[in-house]
Amino acid sequence: ALREALDELDMSDHMLASGYRGLLAKRLAELTPGDLQYTTFGSAGAEAIDFALKLARGYTGKPGVVSAVKGYHGHTGLALAATDEFGAKFGHSMPGFRRVPFGDYEALEAAVTDDVAAVIMETIPATAGFTMPPDDWYPRVRQLCDQRGVILILDEVQAGLGRTGRLWAYEEWGICPDIMVCGKGMSAAIYPVSTATYRQQMQSFFDDNAFAHISSTGGSELGCVTALAMLDQITEPGFLEHVQAMGQRFEDGIAALKEKHPGVLKGLNRRGLLMGVVMSRDECGMLMARALAQRGVIAVYAHYNPNILQLMPPLVIQPDEVDEVLDALDGALAEVGESIGARA
Ligand SMILES: Cc1ncc(COP(=O)(O)O)c(C=O)c1O
Repeated sequence: ALREALDELDMSDHMLASGYRGLLAKRLAELTPGDLQYTTFGSAGAEAIDFALKLARGYTGKPGVVSAVKGYHGHTGLALAATDEFGAKFGHSMPGFRRVPFGDYEALEAAVTDDVAAVIMETIPATAGFTMPPDDWYPRVRQLCDQRGVILILDEVQAGLGRTGRLWAYEEWGICPDIMVCGKGMSAAIYPVSTATYRQQMQSFFDDNAFAHISSTGGSELGCVTALAMLDQITEPGFLEHVQAMGQRFEDGIAALKEKHPGVLKGLNRRGLLMGVVMSRDECGMLMARALAQRGVIAVYAHYNPNILQLMPPLVIQPDEVDEVLDALDGALAEVGESIGARA
């Protein structure tokens, strides 16, 4: 799609209306639940997060932002302030930002005071190793935000777009955010584009603030064409079922490897093909990443929990390729077990 588009399109001018931006916004409105109706575009995930936080603050007229300990939203201004630890290195305490442990409802309830504009979470925190919240977490978070007039922003940069075997990760908990942010996969790994999709009522903010967000390269027509082709592919009948089946194949294989390498392999955090392989010690993450790279598999460990290896294969992975990765895991686990003195 991008190759064909290059014959006819360029990035387009961000100050002019664009049919392709309109088509992508329309498609996202159709594919999202609730009344998520409008989309503002960026180039990177962090830019769309910055926009989402600006919109929440502008719309509510309040400054407060509550995010998660061990959360990650990117390396630009407001996104960095909402991000744990990395932000601290650059003068973390931007006014209004505070963090609570992910999944701790009482802490969240206490943090959402009258001055809070937004609660922002990665739907499933990636940099923490895909830790799952308690089952009632998101329904309660949604209810709290409704009761207190707070905007719920869900960062689907890693978890969205079919990765969990559902189109949007938050569907798992039957809720809908007020603003949903996508990046990474939205580009189909071909042309950068990110999106913040928000509820109909929030559009009113732009009536008086038409220039609330400007991005010269955000929502380039080439990116929109690419994203539309990607959305066509992941909404094809059977696509999400394929993701679920491949995820299950990994889970079965990893359960067998757990029996074989009990000194290293402790568990699996998983939804679809979003997987965190939990190991016995912090040093295992780095050792496994190296051992896997030597076997042709690229997987990084989770920054905040280095005993967890992030396994995020392409959603189009085939069964024989899953088995290849499982073989590589088997070899790498044996090597790492050997080097930490935890032989099976
Ligand atoms: C969950 C999450 N949100 C936001 C971002 C920021 O995206 P970008 O690097 O495109 O700015 C990332 C990037 O790793 C991410 O993992």
